[in-house]
Amino acid sequence: MVHEFAFRDADFRHIAQLVHSHMGIMLPEQKKEMVYARLARRLRTLGLSDFGSYLKRLEDPAELEMLANAMTTNVTAFFREPHHFHHLAETVLPQAAAQNKNRRLRIWSAGCSAGMEAYSIAMTVLTHLPNAKQWDVKILATDIDTAILERGKKGDYDAHQWDKIPETCRGTLARLQANGTMSVSDDVKKLVCFKHLNLLEDWPMQGPFDAIFCRNVVIYFDKETQRHLFARMADLLKPQGWLYIGHSENLHYVSDRFTLLGSTIYRLNDHE
Ligand SMILES: C[S@@+](CC[C@H](N)C(=O)[O-])C[C@H]1O[C@@H](n2cnc3c(N)ncnc32)[C@H](O)[C@@H]1O
Repeated sequence: MVHEFAFRDADFRHIAQLVHSHMGIMLPEQKKEMVYARLARRLRTLGLSDFGSYLKRLEDPAELEMLANAMTTNVTAFFREPHHFHHLAETVLPQAAAQNKNRRLRIWSAGCSAGMEAYSIAMTVLTHLPNAKQWDVKILATDIDTAILERGKKGDYDAHQWDKIPETCRGTLARLQANGTMSVSDDVKKLVCFKHLNLLEDWPMQGPFDAIFCRNVVIYFDKETQRHLFARMADLLKPQGWLYIGHSENLHYVSDRFTLLGSTIYRLNDHE
């Protein structure tokens, strides 16, 4: 394929190595064209004529942030993998209602993309936790991608997401707008706190979390990165806390600190 900018194998390997060490994502040779397509736009914006100059720019942390934003895959949806939200509503929240005497609930959406996962958690809490408004509820929503986090904070989405919103939340916790978008209510927004966080770096939060959603994030991470990540998540969960991962992910050869309860729902082992 003829490229506007010369893209040597060595350029691709350099970028792949940087992306792997900075954000854990593996970029096999087959991703070369995808990487070119995503970065050619950036070279044009920067007015550069070749990848050599771009690689030099990547020494600047601000440009590395733009690289991370370009390399992420942000596909998400409201109530994606709905069985996790049923489990949250039917098992986790009733248990919290019975056991959390301090009425404190902490849930982390790790790799939250545009916030739909975190807002779906918030809607589930508001509709299924008795007297939710009298609880101290915080849903932490983190992502490495600074641009997608801004979309999450706004809480406005394409109207086609409306079909995914349960009837019980429509009109109250989510509204269709005249301009053809849908937005989440202030009550939902209030529960969610968006923060920029690279999962490979230090985590400022202390926990403990009742549950962690880390879904469709580690698919592109190597096993060693996954081992390290889930060990740290286990340390941040309450005893017998819950972990939800994506439909194509599993913890085989990654962590023995959790028990699989089916449908990519894990529970931290008792003795932890
Ligand atoms: C496919 S989306 C999944 C969104 C949501 N969890 C879901 O299942 O719908 C994956 C998200 O993980 C984020 N991500 C990838 N690598 C990351 C890292 N090293 N640290 C934090 N977030 C990361 C991406 O920016 C992206 O928004």
